[in-house]
Amino acid sequence: MDDRDYAQFLAAVKRLAGVDLAQYKAQQMRRRLLSFRDRHGFADFAALAAALRRDGQLLRAFLDYVTINVSAFFRNPEQWKVLETRILPRLVRERPRALACWSAACSTGEEPYSLAMLLLHTQPAVRFEVLATDIDASALARAEDGWYEAAKVRDEVPLALREAYFRPEGDRMRVDERVRRRVRFRRHDLLADPFPSGFDLIVCRNVMIYFADAAKERLYRQFHDALRPGGVLFVGSTEQIFSPHRYGFVLEAPFFYRRATE
Ligand SMILES: C[S@@+](CC[C@H](N)C(=O)[O-])C[C@H]1O[C@@H](n2cnc3c(N)ncnc32)[C@H](O)[C@@H]1O
Repeated sequence: MDDRDYAQFLAAVKRLAGVDLAQYKAQQMRRRLLSFRDRHGFADFAALAAALRRDGQLLRAFLDYVTINVSAFFRNPEQWKVLETRILPRLVRERPRALACWSAACSTGEEPYSLAMLLLHTQPAVRFEVLATDIDASALARAEDGWYEAAKVRDEVPLALREAYFRPEGDRMRVDERVRRRVRFRRHDLLADPFPSGFDLIVCRNVMIYFADAAKERLYRQFHDALRPGGVLFVGSTEQIFSPHRYGFVLEAPFFYRRATE
């Protein structure tokens, strides 16, 4: 592959969509882009860039493809159990009045809704809000609607929560208004936008695996600063942080990092 053609393509995507693909893992990203380009029959990246400029639909398909929106309710249920039984009770003891949570790279909403359902169900006295962000505006729009295939909900959501917080309609189910109103969706690029702060819990799962090491390390520091001391970062099941103390974190349980109290 021609390096210059590729580098110019990355620059074109950044100008066109504001997404900096150079900060994602290089080899993996190159493979994905090449496969997209070949599947759509473009001879080189310059031709693909020109088509993305002309064709809004192709641009949306391209962005959907590179951002990888796969998600699930209570993804890795055993880790959500740890959140329920160990992490949330401590956070609530320390902040009995209200919890501020952030689901960063929330995709189509399964993750922030899982968190909101869990809090409503297991900590009914606690006030809380979940900020849910993603770079992908079309994923956010679907998330905000709150409709999911009934089979997916049946497979992924425990019965008690399904019965309490979903409304069936045909072969789909909608997240109940009591859950939806606790979640606020907003577009946010983890690699480019300023971070909000003051959180008790940040859930950021299955996105950092796509980022190059330098970007990941910057994110660890930014997440640290976005948490209050004692607050927790919950990461995906292949995303352990090596030497968490370097970033001001203490391992509270596998995949849960507590911001150290200075
Ligand atoms: C595989 S999904 C993970 C969804 C959810 N967190 C989970 O674990 O099920 C990855 C998400 O990261 C988002 N994403 C990719 N790059 C991003 C960036 N730079 N900033 C914010 N979100 C990003 C994608 O749009 C996608 O929705």
